[in-house]
Amino acid sequence: MQSLKLALATVVAVGFSGAVMAGTDLSRPNVSYGKPISQQDLAAWDIDISTSDGKGLPEGKGSVAEGKTIFAEKCVACHGEGAKGGPQYGAMFGGIGSFKTKKRRLTPGSMYPYAPILFDYTRRAMPMDSPQTLTNNEVYALTAYIYNLNGLVKDDAVLDAASLTALKMPNRDGFDRDDRPDTDAMRCLTGC
Ligand code: HEC
Repeated sequence: MQSLKLALATVVAVGFSGAVMAGTDLSRPNVSYGKPISQQDLAAWDIDISTSDGKGLPEGKGSVAEGKTIFAEKCVACHGEGAKGGPQYGAMFGGIGSFKTKKRRLTPGSMYPYAPILFDYTRRAMPMDSPQTLTNNEVYALTAYIYNLNGLVKDDAVLDAASLTALKMPNRDGFDRDDRPDTDAMRCLTGC
């Protein structure tokens, strides 16, 4: 706590001296720091996807073959050749149907209920040592490649927003609905 206070004091002190040096009149409450965020800057952060209906998926497309090449360059170090598993993570294919047994194997093919989840996760989080460096086309290609390894799309498949949303996952109905009343976010404005 002490060190936090010290750190805050330092930040405030540096902030003040910076302001004085810049000739800002500190008696005015309306100090002119910063600038309103532009729609363009905001868009770079707004990459949320509604995975059940694909809303928010960007334009672009990528093929299984392209994904294979990108994977070998940017993913193989941690996920192993052909996503068979590497030093950082296990295999990313197989296990389909295992969620109905006691020996569940978690892979994108066996677990994800909606296909856009793989796109969303990869775009936000991978490669783990340099996330958000992939283009949308690269993410579509990697998604196509990993679903191909899972036997869910053909070797010559090209995925884009429409085809990815249309891909029905094997575990689509494998999740139980949370029926606790307080989790039921039903919209109700009158007479409910
Ligand atoms: C520096 C190591 C590293 C690199 C490089 C890397 N990953 Fe990962 N990846 C991980 C780790 C660690 C996890 C597990 C994260 C967790 O469970 O929180 C993971 C998890 C994943 C998952 C989730 C798997 C699942 O079964 O749900 C996907 C998909 C994935 N990575 C795709 C990729 C792709 C595609 C690339 C290349 C663009 C990549 N990763 C590059 C380390 C890495």
